[in-house]
Amino acid sequence: MTSPRTTLSLVDTDPAELAVDAIVIGVHSQTAEQGSGSPAGALLLASGAESIAAAFDGKLTETLALLGATGGPGEVIKLATLGTITAPLVTAVGLGPEPSGAAPAPETLRRAAGAAVRALAGAPRVALALPLPDDADAPAALRAVAEGALLGGYRFAGYKTKPQPGRREPVADVLIAVPDAADATAQAEVTRAQAVAGAALTSRDWVNTAPNELRPPAFAEAVAAAAREAGLGVEVLDEAALSAGGYGGILAVGQGSEAPPRLVKLTYTPSGGGNGKRVALVGKGITFDTGGISIKPAQGMWEMKSDMAGAAAVGAAMLAVAALKPSVAVTGYLPMAENMPSGTSYRPGDVITMYSGKKVEVLNTDAEGRMILADGIARACEDGADYLFETSTLTGGQVISLGKKIAGVMGTPELCERVKAAGEATGEPAWPMPLPDDVRKGMDSDVADISQVNAGMDRAGHMLQGGVFLREFVTEDVAWAHIDIAGPGYHSGEATGYWTKGGTGVPVRTLVHLVEDVAANG
Ligand code: BES
Ligand code: MN
Ligand code: ZN
Repeated sequence: MTSPRTTLSLVDTDPAELAVDAIVIGVHSQTAEQGSGSPAGALLLASGAESIAAAFDGKLTETLALLGATGGPGEVIKLATLGTITAPLVTAVGLGPEPSGAAPAPETLRRAAGAAVRALAGAPRVALALPLPDDADAPAALRAVAEGALLGGYRFAGYKTKPQPGRREPVADVLIAVPDAADATAQAEVTRAQAVAGAALTSRDWVNTAPNELRPPAFAEAVAAAAREAGLGVEVLDEAALSAGGYGGILAVGQGSEAPPRLVKLTYTPSGGGNGKRVALVGKGITFDTGGISIKPAQGMWEMKSDMAGAAAVGAAMLAVAALKPSVAVTGYLPMAENMPSGTSYRPGDVITMYSGKKVEVLNTDAEGRMILADGIARACEDGADYLFETSTLTGGQVISLGKKIAGVMGTPELCERVKAAGEATGEPAWPMPLPDDVRKGMDSDVADISQVNAGMDRAGHMLQGGVFLREFVTEDVAWAHIDIAGPGYHSGEATGYWTKGGTGVPVRTLVHLVEDVAANG
């Protein structure tokens, strides 16, 4: 199911004269020492708002303060312009304290643009006159504003059968005020944001789709159709091909469901062979995780429709790669299965021969993600990869240790640092975690090569158990990073910044950034 997309364009005319439904400006909060002590003194208009302030005869800050504006991050205050400027509405979005001497951080702009465009649902055409630096930081700031506007303007199409009276439609067109709308670098950033944030929205759409509509065959078909349209190479292994190929991990998890498993392989081939490096992206595609025979409690189980967020992110990142055409070879692997309890399910105690040939003792059928990922990773290594990034809603332990916003990263230390840096650059924070020897020791099996979880079912180092298990399937010469997004892949709370309720699109922008990083730096 595809949600409508906001269109983006650049303008360099005076924002006060733009014929749009609303103009968004930025406001900073000031500390008591900076301000004059009066409520208006605590507010500071951000650059970009000059001509609007002039049209208000210098009374704009005061009026916004009267309306309760504090400039706090995410705050949105709307003000009727009563003919002072062409647009009927000014919307002030809070940017927090003014950074000393510098423009706001990209993530501050991304969130502000997202919050403003989200709050302006119902207005068809909106212009953003936010503070953009005029130096080397300009492209990153513009990228952030553009991404924030697209991500914040998202609404899942949903399944309502009747029109919703009074429901305000998402903003259709966003204009971004820049010094020079014809500037090629600025235009390239808008094109890039459309590809990358657009991919994040595709990922959100897949995650938000009801799990009965997106069982593995349907999910595989949806990804394959989008990938073909984008010009990627597409190969879909069905249950017969998986069986013939010996994908024991994917088959074991999938065997409890009437909807058979799949492995989707997407290939991007750079023109001229690229820089000679090969990147593999692997994503967990459990279309619904009941836990299987080791069944989960009913409370909140419906959120396990998001257990394919890793595969959605990889599929969507591949679409962005196809559009951006980086000079590096990239292959995506999306193992898909539905983890159901039934008379044909795999069970605790089963020993599974994986695609790599390793034998795994199953102790908990709810640790299904690592079973399908192990096969995806082994296949990616067999095909040849220099760098392997794998992402998955793998463990509740990730949420316990790092919370709902910060992904856990395990793998080759140098690559983990690159993932962390990519997370910082994109506003998708990720934090390196260790792979301790004692955690691996705890997974020694009495009967097989390795247990799927701690052999005594000890939950200590829960997230790390996942990383340690997956490492067994990575070939030695491959640099790899496992990105656990159990928390950040899905947002259960109310919308905030550019995050809407449901799928977040994390870590699509990180993956694209990493691909571009490898294309540029090897
Ligand atoms: N899909 C879950 C992990 C998860 C939990 C994702 C919460 C998002 C939010 C995963 O398959 C799972 O069930 N993990 C178990 C592993 C355990 C049985 C070893 C967990 O984390 O409890
Ligand atoms: Mn599970
Ligand atoms: Zn799962």
